[in-house]
Formats: sequence, structure tokens, C-alpha cells
Amino acid sequence: MKKFLLSLAVTALVLASFAGCTAKPKGPVKVGIAIYKFDDTFMTNYRTEMEAYLKSKETADTKYEITITDGKNDQATQSEQIDNFISQNYDVLIINLVDLTAAGAIIAKVKAAKIPTVFINRQPTTDDMKLWDKITYVGAKAEDSGTYQGEIAKDLWDAGKLDTNKDGKLQYVMLMGQAIHQDAALRTEYSIKKLTDAGIVVEKLFEERANWNRDEGQTQMASAIAQFGAKIEVVFGNNDDMALGAIQALKAANMVVPVIGVDATAPALDAIGLGDLAGTVLNDSEGQAQTSVDKALALLAGEVLVKEYWVPYVKVTPANYKDFQ
Ligand code: GAL
Ligand code: CA
Repeated sequence: MKKFLLSLAVTALVLASFAGCTAKPKGPVKVGIAIYKFDDTFMTNYRTEMEAYLKSKETADTKYEITITDGKNDQATQSEQIDNFISQNYDVLIINLVDLTAAGAIIAKVKAAKIPTVFINRQPTTDDMKLWDKITYVGAKAEDSGTYQGEIAKDLWDAGKLDTNKDGKLQYVMLMGQAIHQDAALRTEYSIKKLTDAGIVVEKLFEERANWNRDEGQTQMASAIAQFGAKIEVVFGNNDDMALGAIQALKAANMVVPVIGVDATAPALDAIGLGDLAGTVLNDSEGQAQTSVDKALALLAGEVLVKEYWVPYVKVTPANYKDFQ
């Protein structure tokens, strides 16, 4: 009898392990990526890299079915896209929110559906991030990008290249990104803080939003030029697209003023090479894309993650821009 029971147990074991190997052929892992809007240079580089990186991680056993949605800068549209991901049983989500105030509601939904989620580029509040343990954030410290912009301006000031009217003050123009975004406020603050901390007296001539957008940057810069003309000694753009728009407006007015951006997009690096852009800061879309994918896959594998991951910024000037091209 004992022998019989033993052989029964062995058979059961063999059958179980056999079932474990052959049963349920695994389908592709469904990854949903929601971008705030496709018409954005930096986020386009970011999403292209996320897709390429995920594809590069495919193996014979693991395939990724990737869907990327365009939120068209409208939270209602994006929330619907996220609802669709949820109802179609996506395995993991990566979300670049349109409107940060929607974070709480979206976290409640992914939590109820048990879909681990990585937020990128726009950081939900600490309280929102506490709502569930299977969410994390991947971003870059906007303070640092502002500080680097300030350093670039300070170096130009120290080299005697900014105070054109020789009044001992730096007259500046600030073109800001979208109000909802932490990067806009922090870059605006820390670029100037670096200068004032260094004892440079600044005078803000003009500060307006151009919402990360090149055309709006050009329009706002044209209006700054109309009001302040030759008084303008330096221009800060919270990103490169707005900085490049400002350069177009300056060119149209036959003016040469140092302009400093953030992102280090390909056209911005070219503009440094041409002497049009004084400097920028690498906002590492590749590094952030890879980190967010890595964290999404880690959450999916059941790993316990911390609440935020930071990818460093790098200062880019005429001295080193070629390293990033
Ligand atoms: C910023 C970036 C901007 C814009 C924005 C979108 O980090 O510098 O160019 O892409 O994100 O949220
Ligand atoms: Ca001056």
C-alpha cells in the first residue's frame, strides 16, 4: 500500500510538472503607453525610444504588444484611453499625464484593476504616489536643469558677454512651459536663482508662457522684442523648442542675443553648432525611456520599487555639444 501511494504521488508530481511546462502558452505582454500629446519634440524622442527599447528586450518566450496613445493635450481624451487599456486587460502601463490633478483618479482605477503603472515626465504628488505600492515615477530633477541654464548664463556674464548696456544688471526674457508642469516653474526659478546666488543683479523684462511650443515661443519673443528691443541681454527658454522659436524671432528682428534652452534635441544641438543657441541642458529622453521600461517590467515581475527614479541632466555648451549629436 505504501509503495502504491508513493508511486501515485510520483505520478502526480510528474504530471504537475509536465502541466507546468506545457500548459497555457503565454501570449504577448500588453504594454499601454499614454503620452500627453504626440506633437512634442522631447516626448516624441522619449516614446520612440521606449518602443525600440521594449522591442530590443523581446526574447523567444516574451513578446511585447505595445500600444501608444496620443492624449492630444486633453485629459478627458487621455483618461478614456487609459480606461480602454484597463478594459482590454493590459499588463502594465506607462503614463505621461496631461493634467497632474487627474493622477489620484487614475491611480484608483489602475489599482482596482491591479495593473502596475509607471508615471513619467509629470510627477504626481507624494500623497497620490502613496495610494498604491505598484506605482512609481521616472523623471529628471528640474531644479538641476534650471541651475545648469543659470551656470551657462553666469559663464557668459563672467566673460563680459551679456551686459550690453553696461548697467551692471542682467536684463532677461523668460519663456515658460505649460503651467501644469513642474519643470516649467522649477526651471524658471532655478535658472535665475543660480545668477542671484552668484551676486548677479537681474532684471526681468518679460516672462510669458509659450507652452513648450516653438511657434508660441516665436510669437512671445516677437512681442518681447516689440516691447524691449535692444534692452534684452539674454533669453531663457524652459525648453529647446521655445528657445528655437525665440531665435527665429530674433533673426527676423536682426538681433543677436544669447538664448539658452533645455532638452538638447537634435535641432537644438545643430543650432549650437551654428552659433545660434548659446547652450542647452540634456534632458535624457533615452535614459528616461529605458528606465521607465525597466521599472515597468520590474513592477510586472513583482519587484518592490521605491516611489521615484531620477535620470541626471547634463549641461551642454559649444564646448561639448558634439558629444550629444
Ligand atoms: C519637459 C521637456 C519639454 C516637454 C515637456 C512635456 O521635460 O523639457 O520639452 O517635452 O517635458 O511634458
Ligand atoms: Ca544690463
